[in-house]
Amino acid sequence: MMIPDHVAIIMDGNGRWAEERGLKRSEGHSAGAKTLEKLAIHAKDLGIKVLSVYAFSTDNFKRSKEEVDYLMNLCILYFKNRFNEVINNNVKVVFSGRKENLRSDVLEAMETVMEKTKNNTDCILNICFNYGGQEEIVDASLKVAKDIKNGTLKETNLNRDNFYHYLYQDLPPIDLLIRTGKEHRLSGFMLYQATYAELYFVDTYFPSFNEDELDKAIQYYQTCDRRFGNVKTN
Ligand code: IPE
Ligand code: IPE
Ligand code: MG
Repeated sequence: MMIPDHVAIIMDGNGRWAEERGLKRSEGHSAGAKTLEKLAIHAKDLGIKVLSVYAFSTDNFKRSKEEVDYLMNLCILYFKNRFNEVINNNVKVVFSGRKENLRSDVLEAMETVMEKTKNNTDCILNICFNYGGQEEIVDASLKVAKDIKNGTLKETNLNRDNFYHYLYQDLPPIDLLIRTGKEHRLSGFMLYQATYAELYFVDTYFPSFNEDELDKAIQYYQTCDRRFGNVKTN
């Protein structure tokens, strides 16, 4: 059966998962981070080449200082001291997003996990952190303008395929895009890369989205007839 090369997850519903259990929102984020670690290993075991996850959007800075601080500290905890399973399972961690507005200790933790996993080859875990899809396209456009100006790129050579090279990470297009937590929207997630992604929405809140649920999403993907604008030929 066809395993998608690039799976992406909008990890939503941590807060509601916690509230339903009478816990603090922060406890939902902590549970979500554990879930992510398990899913990354499972994705690698399934043969998925790239797993992109939405961990913190540029718009998430609108939340209370308490919640933002918690998420930043959780990021430091995971990228500095946890994630050992990911590191030891040949998964390479990369990040997409803007560095601006991130604390230096957060950036340092991101560097630590990137450095520890830079030679891992089985699967790429692309963590979208301080990420916005519109920002990514704007930032890519600025890089394009710069390359045209300095002569590295000829204006007429730019096309939809090599535009990927200007995004935060040069990854293949998304095959399967999952959003947990009941909402049916993209909230700015990987707008360029999601062009022909199969969309899978599931009510399960992210902390409860386990390996079996990922298997189910892939089973759904395997029923999709991907035409890419063509017509069915058989
Ligand atoms: C997703 O869960 C994690 C982040 C956006 C950081 P939420 O925090 O959005 O959880 P809900 O949607 O409020 O339940
Ligand atoms: C999207 O979830 C961002 C992440 C999962 C990190 P949000 O909870 O921020 O999105 P909205 O506000 O429901 O659109
Ligand atoms: Mg949410």
